[in-house]
Amino acid sequence: MIGTCVDTAALHLQADKVVAIPTETVYGLAGNALSEKALATIFQVKNRPQFDPLIVHIADTAQVSRYATDFPEKAQQLAAEFWPGPLTLLLPKNNIIPDLCTSGLSRVALRIPNHPLALKLLKKLSFPLAAPSANPFGYISPTTAQHVADQLGDKISYILDGGACQVGLESTIVGFEADEAVVYRKGGLSIEAIEAVIGKVRVMQHSTSQPAAPGMLKSHYAPRIPLMLGNLDELLKQAHPQQIGILSFRKKYIQLPDSQQIVLSETGNYAEAAQRLFAALRYLDSLPIRIIFAELLPEEDLGRAINDRLRRAAAVR
Ligand code: TXA
Ligand code: MG
Repeated sequence: MIGTCVDTAALHLQADKVVAIPTETVYGLAGNALSEKALATIFQVKNRPQFDPLIVHIADTAQVSRYATDFPEKAQQLAAEFWPGPLTLLLPKNNIIPDLCTSGLSRVALRIPNHPLALKLLKKLSFPLAAPSANPFGYISPTTAQHVADQLGDKISYILDGGACQVGLESTIVGFEADEAVVYRKGGLSIEAIEAVIGKVRVMQHSTSQPAAPGMLKSHYAPRIPLMLGNLDELLKQAHPQQIGILSFRKKYIQLPDSQQIVLSETGNYAEAAQRLFAALRYLDSLPIRIIFAELLPEEDLGRAINDRLRRAAAVR
């Protein structure tokens, strides 16, 4: 069921059930992060391997000390600047967090989401919420309640509808090694914004925080229809117009009808492009076409995270 009642969502969660919740990045599949039962249900509903750990959502920065044993200076600076927001911090985990939540890793991923309903819900609960994106493992992340209902509707009892996600990309994940900040996943907070606060950071090449599973998560965010990246004018020559869908950054292609293409942002606005990306992929994936052609954005600002998602969507399965 889809609804807007925070109290109903809270009741389900208190009964150890999982509920889809809105955040500013993407919808999450939430459960009590301190309950093994709720955690197991999350993995099961998502069909997610247990080696892929879950992000823990908290209500305010004061709660960090309950779930993490250390809160380094740079992490505190980032939290002060960007929480609530699309930033996840990897911090040494306190024992109160079950190993199932972190897949046995020594750090816990913490974040305060910037969405009024999610914050209201978190403040009502006496426990934090573990929440991966509310999509079947490997598919495109949901940015509306309807996206969640389409794919997981029969498996969960409640979807809290908070409208379309404003950021549209998952959070940026940052950890700390010695005194160095490391970005493990590019996301809805740009590297430039982070570096403006704490200086130069190291960015992991493959944007994964799970070195124990190298390459395994490379094909991710994948539509059913194959997606190919390149120069759109060139790619367009390769197939019959009827069989093609196009995802472009700024420009429309007159070779194709409007219904077969999505322009992410005519003005070249990265935030707008990010906000529309996943819904655009879903739309193109629903068309009776054979292939989706897409172009990469400039490697700056949120263009970097968008390109990361596009490359994964294009990775051979
Ligand atoms: O914006 C977001 O982060 C969304 C919303 C719902 O908050 N959540 C999200 O979760 O994207 P998910 O499960 O799709 O991605 C979580 C990723 C994992 O795949 C892993 O790479 C990293 O976060 N992660 C989580 N816990 C970790 C840990 N303890 N150590 C290392 N990496 C971790
Ligand atoms: Mg995900």
